[in-house]
This record gives sequence, C-alpha cells and structure tokens, in this order.
Amino acid sequence: MMSRRTFVRYMSSSPKWKQNSPLFADKESKAVLDKMIRVDHAGELGARQIYAGQLAIFRGTSLEPVIEEMAEQEKKHLNAFNRLISERRVRPTAMMPVWRVAGYALGFGSALVGKEAAMACTVAVEEVIAEHYNDQIRQLHEKGFEKEEPLREMIKKFRDEELEHKDIGIEFDAEMAPMYKAMSQVIKAGCHAAIYISERV
Ligand SMILES: [Fe+2]
Ligand SMILES: [Fe+2]
Repeated sequence: MMSRRTFVRYMSSSPKWKQNSPLFADKESKAVLDKMIRVDHAGELGARQIYAGQLAIFRGTSLEPVIEEMAEQEKKHLNAFNRLISERRVRPTAMMPVWRVAGYALGFGSALVGKEAAMACTVAVEEVIAEHYNDQIRQLHEKGFEKEEPLREMIKKFRDEELEHKDIGIEFDAEMAPMYKAMSQVIKAGCHAAIYISERV
C-alpha cells in the first residue's frame, strides 16, 4: 500500500497519468489556447496604438483616410480578442501597459521621421503579425482543435487583413524610407521579442 505522501507525489508528477487524464488534456489545451489569445490580444492592442500614434501626426493630411481605415480594422481585431479574453477568462499579459506606450511611441516616432518611415513600420509590423497568425492557423489544425474552427477562421480573416495593411504600406512607398532595411530589421526584432514576452508574461 502506497503512503498518502507517495500517492500525492505520484499523482502530481506522473506524466503518463496526466497524459491519460481527460481533465489534464483539457487543461493543456486551454493553456495552449489561452497563450494564443493572450499574445494576439497584446498584438492587436500594439497595432491599434501604432496607428493611433501615426494618426496624431498625419491628421489632416492625405494619409489620414488611409491610416484611419487600417486603424478601424485594428479596433475590430482588438475588440474580438477583448471579447475572447473575457468570455474564456484568459489572463491578459501583464505587459499591456508597456505595449500601449511602446506601440504609440513606435507609430508616433516613425511618423515623425516621415510618411515613408511610417509605412515602413507598417510593413515590418504587419509582416510579423501575418506570419505569427499563419503559425497559429497551422498549430490549430495540427493539434486537432476541431472545436476551434471559428477561432481559426477568425484568425485567417485577420491574417488577410494584416497582409492588406502590409500591401498598403508598400504601395505608399515604405521601401523609399531612409535606411529601410535596417529599420525594418529593428522593428521586426522588436515585434518578435514582444510576441515571445506576451506569450509568457
Ligand atoms: Fe490586426
Ligand atoms: Fe494590421
């Protein structure tokens, strides 16, 4: 007969027992899905803030309607993840206040450099977000989350819209920005770091 202490240790440590338990399987799926929703929620806040920062500079110029349209879509994306965060009781990332400020600063700062730099920022950010959504679309399929088909469809739709934003950036001369390649690399590295952190913190 196992002592109570050994039993407790066995139950809390055995990976085989956990793997076979539907309770833990559900918990693990929830953890994977929570992580996805948490990082997407953070990313969409960042995106909304970037466009808000750019709009502060480009109000009243010919770029206003172009950026306004993208900002409107980001608001819808953010609202969708806000809804998921509350419906599924997902803890938002602790970094939300940081992304709020950093996103706005990135948008504002790139717009200060000029219209091309603002668009270069858009291209870099949207490319990373679209790739990130593609990873999730693949993951949701591979992990067999059949019940999550509506989430997968939603992410696909958002991915397409992010790619449209990227195309708008290119159309509006992103590649003419001063030091385009270097700037794009720095922003992309920042986005990758933000994704890494938001999935974990
Ligand atoms: Fe978005
Ligand atoms: Fe976007």
